[in-house]
Amino acid sequence: MNIPKHIAIIMDGNGRWASKRSLPRIVGHQQGVKAVRTVVKACGAMGVQTLTLFAFSSENKNRSTEEVSLLFKLFLSVLKQEVKKLNKHNVRLKIIGDLSLFPENVQKTAIEAQAQLSENTGLTLVIAANYGGQWDIAHAAKQAAEAVVKGDITPEDITIEGFSNYLCLANEPAVDLLIRSSGELRISNFLLWDIAYSELYFTDTLWPDFDATELQKAIESFNYRDRRFGSRKEN
Ligand code: IPE
Ligand code: IPE
Ligand code: MG
Repeated sequence: MNIPKHIAIIMDGNGRWASKRSLPRIVGHQQGVKAVRTVVKACGAMGVQTLTLFAFSSENKNRSTEEVSLLFKLFLSVLKQEVKKLNKHNVRLKIIGDLSLFPENVQKTAIEAQAQLSENTGLTLVIAANYGGQWDIAHAAKQAAEAVVKGDITPEDITIEGFSNYLCLANEPAVDLLIRSSGELRISNFLLWDIAYSELYFTDTLWPDFDATELQKAIESFNYRDRRFGSRKEN
């Protein structure tokens, strides 16, 4: 079995999972955390290099203040709770996105958690929080422009490779497989630049029900793909 080096997941369907059970949406988000634990463990065990999870999009801040603040609280408690376990499993943590929106205690905990796990050499877990693919590209363009103004680089250095150095996933392998749960067939402003040649996998399963078997199914589907990257096999 060919294991993707980099898997990215749009973890969608928490709200619907809760609504189906007449439960508040936050219960769906809490159950979603269990699925995250399962998938992180499975990816680590399989030897996936990088797992990028979409936890909160730049557009999700437009949800009710109640849901947004409960999500911040959940994010904070999960970060605090899980660091020890992640460390035990040799997981490196990277949080990408515009964290300035988050309350100060969340920002501080995020910085501390990343620092504590920075020396680990196993799975790299990337959490996209207040992240948008368009934001990432605009942010990279601004940094590249600043580097030109400072004289660190010239406009000629802004090639595809040179530019990607300014993106959030600069040092990670290319995204091989992008998974979206809950049946929606869209990207919702997740990774844009980085999924140029990713294989896409959509499942109707709601995120809280996503487990190791679902992950296995996605990887099996990936194994049947003929990745041509625009060229053709000569026979
Ligand atoms: C995904 O689940 C988690 C976040 C966006 C934070 P949703 O909350 O979008 O769940 P649905 O799509 O309403 O079911
Ligand atoms: C995408 O899901 C964001 C995350 C999973 C974090 P959404 O539920 O926000 O996306 P839309 O609204 O269906 O496009
Ligand atoms: Mg959704």
